[in-house]
Amino acid sequence: MADPVYRPDVFTAKNLARAKRIILTPEPGRSTDERWEKETPWVAAKLEHALTVAPEHSVLDYGCGIGRLSKALMQGTGCAVLGVDISSTMRAQAHLYVDAENFTATSPGGLARMAGAGFRADHAFAVWVLQHCYDPKAEIIRVRNALKPGGLFCVINSEQRWIPTDKRWRHDDKNVRELLRDSFDEIATYPLAVGPMSETLVKTSFFKVYRKPA
Ligand SMILES: C[S@@+](CC[C@H](N)C(=O)[O-])C[C@H]1O[C@@H](n2cnc3c(N)ncnc32)[C@H](O)[C@@H]1O
Repeated sequence: MADPVYRPDVFTAKNLARAKRIILTPEPGRSTDERWEKETPWVAAKLEHALTVAPEHSVLDYGCGIGRLSKALMQGTGCAVLGVDISSTMRAQAHLYVDAENFTATSPGGLARMAGAGFRADHAFAVWVLQHCYDPKAEIIRVRNALKPGGLFCVINSEQRWIPTDKRWRHDDKNVRELLRDSFDEIATYPLAVGPMSETLVKTSFFKVYRKPA
């Protein structure tokens, strides 16, 4: 049988309802909308605190989807956010959903070009993203290259890998935590909370903060 083929078009979302369902899949006893309402303010408040976000900061939302967390973080802090997403349909919807002057979205390649031209964000976060990346090492380095020295990177991620393929989700043995430690200093671990998230999600995920060495 042929090997599974990586299929990032799983993240193609033709409308808002479909995008939300891709971003926060329904769980037993919890719909996408319930997850969205409960998880979003909790995660945004934690990011604001962990990253010490100030109004003058530019923050990178890596794997922004439609900007669920960009929007909440901007509303809470007045910061600017650059969203980055592999999916052009997610990026297009992010502009409509966030609908703020200090938000824009680009592709991973666009971010690399911006970093090559000197752009550096103050801080960054990636929520439920690195687990899906085919080459997480390359994405982690891409984020690192776009951060100021000393900039913080918050990661909320599954302990398991969930790679979209033509034969459903695949798990490889890449260790995202180790890859993060190869590029950043790990500085804090936060507990995830049952209530904002399901018990299963809390048990199978991590929330860590990293610093780009000065
Ligand atoms: C589960 S969603 C999470 C979206 C957002 N972080 C949130 O929590 O609302 C994962 C997102 O990561 C994006 N993504 C997947 N692989 C990526 C990659 N290699 N680089 C950038 N974005 C990626 C997908 O297109 C999708 O929008």
